[in-house]
Amino acid sequence: MTFTHRHLLGIEHLRPEEIVTLLDLAEDYVALNRAPDKHKDALAGLTQINMFFENSTRTQASFELAGKRLGADVMNMAMQASSISKGETLIDTAMTLNAMHPDLLVVRHPHSGAVDLLAQKVNCAVLNAGDGRHEHPTQALLDALTIRRAKGRLHRLSIAICGDIAHSRVARSNIILLGKMENRIRLIGPPTLMPSGISEFGVEIYDDMAEGLKDVDVVMMLRLQKERMDGGFIPSEREYYHRFGLDAEKLSHAKPDAIVMHPGPMNRGVEIDGTLADDINRSVIQEQVEMGVAVRMAAMDLLARNLAAVRGAA
Ligand code: NCD
Repeated sequence: MTFTHRHLLGIEHLRPEEIVTLLDLAEDYVALNRAPDKHKDALAGLTQINMFFENSTRTQASFELAGKRLGADVMNMAMQASSISKGETLIDTAMTLNAMHPDLLVVRHPHSGAVDLLAQKVNCAVLNAGDGRHEHPTQALLDALTIRRAKGRLHRLSIAICGDIAHSRVARSNIILLGKMENRIRLIGPPTLMPSGISEFGVEIYDDMAEGLKDVDVVMMLRLQKERMDGGFIPSEREYYHRFGLDAEKLSHAKPDAIVMHPGPMNRGVEIDGTLADDINRSVIQEQVEMGVAVRMAAMDLLARNLAAVRGAA
């Protein structure tokens, strides 16, 4: 098998062939999820704990569904209500959970690096469901699967990632993944929302949508991450929509068959026109959600196989 990791902490640790292995397995799960009986025993007997220290709708729901379809016992920890609010540290909480012998720990945390730290302290497989501005590996993998299905390949495509790049772990994981698979990446957004040092990642940078979108195959929109902003990064939402919000006119600069993506949650009328987001001829936003369940099933399946090998050897 070409996937030998103990944890899934970030795309930066994956080799291109491991990405392909995971996406190929996810294809099997897309088929399973469309069948009347959606169950397989890949995680039977295992315990999965979801720890979300930040709000989430689709990521948490799809990890839960993924675990249940594969036969795991799934528990969702309500972190706001837990001992964290009483001042317990992340590590203490993790050690407490570890003593309950989970096999898979799915963690979202507002601090970059918190999930890596936690993975060093527990003896189960840890999946990063988003840590601060750092990484969101399963999102990049589900985006990759969506692109591969829509375009028939995952290399030599021209892909624009637009909007609040600076605060986005989705952008960061996608830039790393799409770069590893040898695509041409353009980042489009106001200079205040571009991370410093980003040109080291081999990307092209634009602050004009018409220019940046010219002839691209894929347009990936991002939400303005207001919760991570501590000042005025944009003049106003109205002005932002005018310059950077995706509508039919701006999209007309991309290739005629370009697809529109968004990880959700969407702010209609801020970064994307609502009608365009719902246009099934251009938008693959619903398909991204579908791929999310399949990719998370594949990721947990692969990690569970490795867990058996690691524990068997111990
Ligand atoms: C993203 C996230 O949480 O990083 N959402 C998601 O997982 N689908 C993007 C966002 O919050 O804007």
